[in-house]
Amino acid sequence: MLTVIAGLVAAVLVFFFIHGVWTSSSLARRGLREPPGPRPRFLIGNLLDVPTKDAHIAYAELAQKYGPVMQFKLPAQNMVFLSSAKAVSDLLEKRGSVYSDRPAFPMPELMGWGWNLTFKRHDESWRIRRRILHHNLHIGANAKHAGLQTHTALVFAQQLLESPGQFVEHIRRSAAANIMRMTYGLDIALKDDPLVKVAEVAMDSLPLPGTYLVDLVPALKYVPWWFPGAGFKRDAMRWTEYPKALINMPFERVKRDMELGTAQHSVVADALSQGASEDWATIVKEAAAVMYLGGSDTTVSTLMTFSLGMIKHTDVQRKAQEELDRVVGTDRLPTFEDRESLPYIEAIIREAYRMLPVLPLGLPHAAEQDDEYEGMLIRKGTSVFANIWAILHDPVVYPDPEVFRPERFLKDGRIDTNIPDPRTHHFGFGRRVCPGKHFADTTVYITIATILACFNISTAVENGVEVPPSGKVHHGLVSTPERFECTIEPRSTRVRSLIVDALDSEY
Ligand code: HEM
Repeated sequence: MLTVIAGLVAAVLVFFFIHGVWTSSSLARRGLREPPGPRPRFLIGNLLDVPTKDAHIAYAELAQKYGPVMQFKLPAQNMVFLSSAKAVSDLLEKRGSVYSDRPAFPMPELMGWGWNLTFKRHDESWRIRRRILHHNLHIGANAKHAGLQTHTALVFAQQLLESPGQFVEHIRRSAAANIMRMTYGLDIALKDDPLVKVAEVAMDSLPLPGTYLVDLVPALKYVPWWFPGAGFKRDAMRWTEYPKALINMPFERVKRDMELGTAQHSVVADALSQGASEDWATIVKEAAAVMYLGGSDTTVSTLMTFSLGMIKHTDVQRKAQEELDRVVGTDRLPTFEDRESLPYIEAIIREAYRMLPVLPLGLPHAAEQDDEYEGMLIRKGTSVFANIWAILHDPVVYPDPEVFRPERFLKDGRIDTNIPDPRTHHFGFGRRVCPGKHFADTTVYITIATILACFNISTAVENGVEVPPSGKVHHGLVSTPERFECTIEPRSTRVRSLIVDALDSEY
C-alpha cells in the first residue's frame, strides 16, 4: 500500500514538473519572468530550500540576494515572500481583490478546523463570519470594550500583587478573561478555568500548516484512513474532538444563560438575538470561537515582549514611569483618556510590536488569479507571505533594529509621524487584516500603562543571584518570548488601595 502512496506523490511531482516546463516557455512568450528565487531542483523544486528554523530570518537573508519579491517553487504550489513595505502595500493592500484568498490547509481541515474563518477561502462563508467580527471590533465598536479592558487590567494588577511569581499565568488569564467576557459574557475563574483549559488544549492540537506532507501535497487527503502510511488521517480523526469542544462548550453556556434570562451582554448573545435559524446559530458559534483563537496567544506574546524590554532596559521603564507620574499623577491609575498625553508609553507599545511581530511571516494570502507585478508573473494559487519581521527590522527605517529603543519613534517629546507605525504591518494586510487589531491594541495599552504605574519589573533573583531571561523566542503558531521569571514589586505602599479604588469606580 505504501507504494500506492509513493506512486501518487510521484505522479503529482511529474505533473508539476511538466507543467513547470510548459509554463516557463509561455511566460517568455508574454515577456514576463518568474519572481527570482533559489534555483528549483528537478521534480522537488525548492522543497529542500525551505528553512526549518527561524524561517523569517532565513527568508529575510535570501531576500537580500533575490529582492523583495522572491519565489519558492514547491511540487504543488508556489510560495512568494514579500520583504518590503512597498511590495506588501502594492499587492496585499492595493490589489485586495486578487490577494484576499488563503491557500488550502488540508490537515487543519481534516482535523475539524474547517469552520475557522482564518483558514477560509475568500468566499461568502468567510465574509459572513468576518462581518460579525467587524461589527463588534471595528474602531468605533471597540470603544465599548474599554470598561472591560480596564477592569481586566486592574484584576491582573491585583493578581500580580498577590502572586508576582505567576506573572506568565496572570498574563495568560488576563488575555483569556477579556475575550471570554467580550465574546460570551462569561467570567472565567482566577485559576484553572475549565473553558480556558478546553481552548488551550484545542489550540495546542492545531498543527503548524506545512507540518504534514498532506499540506504540501493536498491530493494525499483522498487517501483512505486505513491505508498504511495514512497516519495523518488517523491523527486527524483522533483530534477532531478538540475543535468541537472549543466551539461548542462556551456557546452552549451562553444559550443556556439566555434561556434562564441570566446571559450577560456579549457578542454571541447580541448576534443570537438577531436571528433564530439553525444556520445563523452555527455561523455565530463559529465566528465567536475564532475570537479566542485569534486574540489570546497573540496578546500574551506582545505583553511578554514588552515585559522583556522592561527587564532589559530599566532606564526605559523609569522614563515611562516619570511620564505616568507627571501626566496621570500618583493619586489614581491611568485610563484610556490619558493615552493621547502619554507619548513615551505609545513609543514603548510601538517598539514592542516592532521588536517581535507575533506572526513574523503573517498568515499566507493566496492569489485568486494570475497577476503581473513589475514584469513578474505571480500565478493563480500562489501562497503570498509578507515577511513582517523583515519589514520591521529594516535597518534603513529602524536603525539598530535588534535594540529595544522606544525613542526611535519620538521627536521633541512627541510621536514622530515620519517613522512608520509598526501597526501598519504587525496586524496583517488588506481585506484579511486582523479584525481584532483595535481590541488587541487597546488591551495592550491599558495593561502596559497599569503595570508601569503600579510596579517595577526587574531581573529575577534566585538565591541571591540574578537570573536574566534567555531572550530566546519560541516560534509556534505564534512567536512568543520563551518563558522567563522576573521580579515584580509594587512601586509604593499605596498601589493596593489605588487598584481597589479603581476597581470600585471603573466597572
Ligand atoms: C497583539 C495581538 C494580535 C496580533 C499581533 C494579531 C495579528 C494578526 C495577523 C498578522 C493576522 C493575519 C492577517 C493577514 O492575513 O494579513 C491576523 C488575523 C486574524 N486575527 Fe489577529 N492579531 C491579534 C489579536 C487578535 C484579536 C484580539 C482577535 C479577535 C478578537 C484577532 C482575530 C483575528 C482573526 C479572526 C484573524 C483572521 C482574519 C481573516 O482571515 O480574515 N486577532 N491577526
